[in-house]
Amino acid sequence: TRPIRIAPSILSADFSQLGAEIEAIDKAGADYIHVDIMDGHFVPNISFGPLVMASVRKFSAKPFDVHLMIAPADPYLAAFAKAGADIITVHAEAGPHLHRSIQTIKAEGKKAGVALNPATPVSALEHVIDDIDLLLVMSVNPGFGGQSFIPAALTKLAQAHALIGKRPIDLEVDGGITAENAGAAAKAGCNVFVAGSSIYGGNDPATYASRIADIRAA
Ligand code: DX5
Ligand code: ZN
Repeated sequence: TRPIRIAPSILSADFSQLGAEIEAIDKAGADYIHVDIMDGHFVPNISFGPLVMASVRKFSAKPFDVHLMIAPADPYLAAFAKAGADIITVHAEAGPHLHRSIQTIKAEGKKAGVALNPATPVSALEHVIDDIDLLLVMSVNPGFGGQSFIPAALTKLAQAHALIGKRPIDLEVDGGITAENAGAAAKAGCNVFVAGSSIYGGNDPATYASRIADIRAA
C-alpha cells in the first residue's frame, strides 16, 4: 500500500506571512506543501503565480505539490518547474492536449499529476494512466477553500483506485477534507489528503500539528 501523505493547502494560509505559514506547517508534520494556482479563467478566483511561489520555496524542504487550475497550462509549466515545484498537476479539462502537458512536465524532470473536476469521469484518464505519477480527484468544484465535500467523490476514488491497479501512482483527494471524512476516502484507496481550511482555519500555528495528526489518524 502507498504511504499516507497529508498535504496542507496554503490557499487558506495568511498570505501576509506566507513564508512563516509554510514553515509552521512543515514543522507541524505536513508531508507535501499543496500550492493552489488559480487564473480567474479556468476557475472563478485568482491566487498567485510562479514569482510568489519561488519567493516562498525556501521556507520548506518538503515536496511542493502544485495544483494548476489554469487554462492553458502548458505556457507556464516551465515557470512552475523553475519556481521549485516537485509535482505539477494539470486539469484534464484544461486542454487542449493533456498528453502533451504530461510529457512537458516530465521533460522538466518533475512528477506529473492530472486532476479531475467532479463531473469528469475517471475514464478520461484511461489512455494516460501509464504516463502519470499522481491522480487527483476533486471533491469540490475548484476555485475556493472552505467548501463541503461532495460524497460522490468516494465512488470516484474507488474507480480511480481500480484504474491505477498496481502502478506506483499517488491517489490524491482535494476539497472539504476533514478528520470526519478522511477515513472514508482512505478506504476508497486514497493516500494523499489535501486540506486547507481544516488545517489552516483560524491561522493559529499552535493548532496545526494536532489538526494534521487528526486527519492522519482518521
Ligand atoms: C480548491 C483547491 C483546494 C482548496 C482546499 O479549489 O484546489 O486545494 O484549497 O481547501 P479546503 O480543504 O478548505 O476545501
Ligand atoms: Zn488544490
